Amino acid sequence: MNTQPLIQCENLVKIYQLNQQGGEAVEVQALQGLDVSVREGEMIGVVGASGSGKSTLLNVLGGLDRPTGGRAHVGKQNLGSLSERALDEYRRDKVGFIWQHGARNLIPYLTAAENVELPLTLSGQVGASTRARALELLELVKLQERMGHKLEELSGGEQQRVAIAIALANSPMLLLADEPTGELDSSTAQTIYDLLRDLNKRLGLTMVIVSHDPGIAKHVDRVVAVRDGKLASETVRVQKADSDEHHLVEMAVLDSAGRLQIPREYLEEFDIKRRVIIETTAEGILIRKPEGDAQSVDHSSMVSEQAEIESEAVQGPSKLNQAWSRIRAEIRKRLGR
Ligand SMILES: Nc1ncnc2c1ncn2[C@@H]1O[C@H](COP(=O)(O)OP(=O)(O)OP(=O)(O)O)[C@@H](O)[C@H]1O
Ligand SMILES: [Mg+2]
Repeated sequence: MNTQPLIQCENLVKIYQLNQQGGEAVEVQALQGLDVSVREGEMIGVVGASGSGKSTLLNVLGGLDRPTGGRAHVGKQNLGSLSERALDEYRRDKVGFIWQHGARNLIPYLTAAENVELPLTLSGQVGASTRARALELLELVKLQERMGHKLEELSGGEQQRVAIAIALANSPMLLLADEPTGELDSSTAQTIYDLLRDLNKRLGLTMVIVSHDPGIAKHVDRVVAVRDGKLASETVRVQKADSDEHHLVEMAVLDSAGRLQIPREYLEEFDIKRRVIIETTAEGILIRKPEGDAQSVDHSSMVSEQAEIESEAVQGPSKLNQAWSRIRAEIRKRLGR
């Protein structure tokens, strides 16, 4: 596998402005300084809770949305600084998309081959070459025997294969899939993952696949977990010593500034609040709770207040201001001012 990164995101930020009733805008920070890098030819999975920023990441990587801050490079393109026209060309020429409801964009009364031909024709291809290219694409997704079937005569998995064939039509350098198996049963989902893996190997195609399925780790090279718009952990396959067997290991990741996020469950388990002692040991670095640290403020209560503020932010700006006043008063009280 090539070790050159195709995708490099550093401190990537995406803020959406929501216009509330009453005219005041509220910001939603969908990506809050996300770092991720993907090698050429690598196939990665992206998991995370609903609203954690997975689709936003795909939309930025696919040139559908522009980053608000940080760096997003794909190949030679700096997605933050491309002109509108260059971004359109990037999306059209370099990226393939597969959506959860991919088949819904297809036309039920046309055959599989006609559905693939349609976008080829729209992109300017004409004549016999269109049919030949459609067949080639259907062969890639192993659907050549069903090419003459109307879409409504195909199963959900087969329809998704037609959508994948269309995503490959521009010979993309990057394939982005948002929950491609979300509407399929588990055995059909398995066949779609097998197909994506086969395309990744045969075409050397770099893939980023968003999924809610924690089992995705067995289908891809690496899984990155997103939490609150940041990279939280990575699960990688590690080869056992003196054997061909692999096992999956989940690792915490450092951000571009070298910061490490400690999983919340560990903070709770070891009753760690705001400060820790870091020591080196023969095995590595030990992070432990300081003994009798009077100034260690309970971080978890801050977290719940933050969550309260965020939920009030949705209700409107005046509520938000009240919430901020409350937290400022609380901070002053704690600082003894
Ligand atoms: N166009 C938009 N305008 C405003 N806010 C948005 C927009 N798109 C996403 N968001 C917000 O950004 C955050 C991240 O959304 P995103 O769609 O990336 O989450 P996700 O991880 O894909 O979730 P899911 O698993 O439910 O698909 C959410 O709070 C969402 O409401
Ligand atoms: Mg999503």
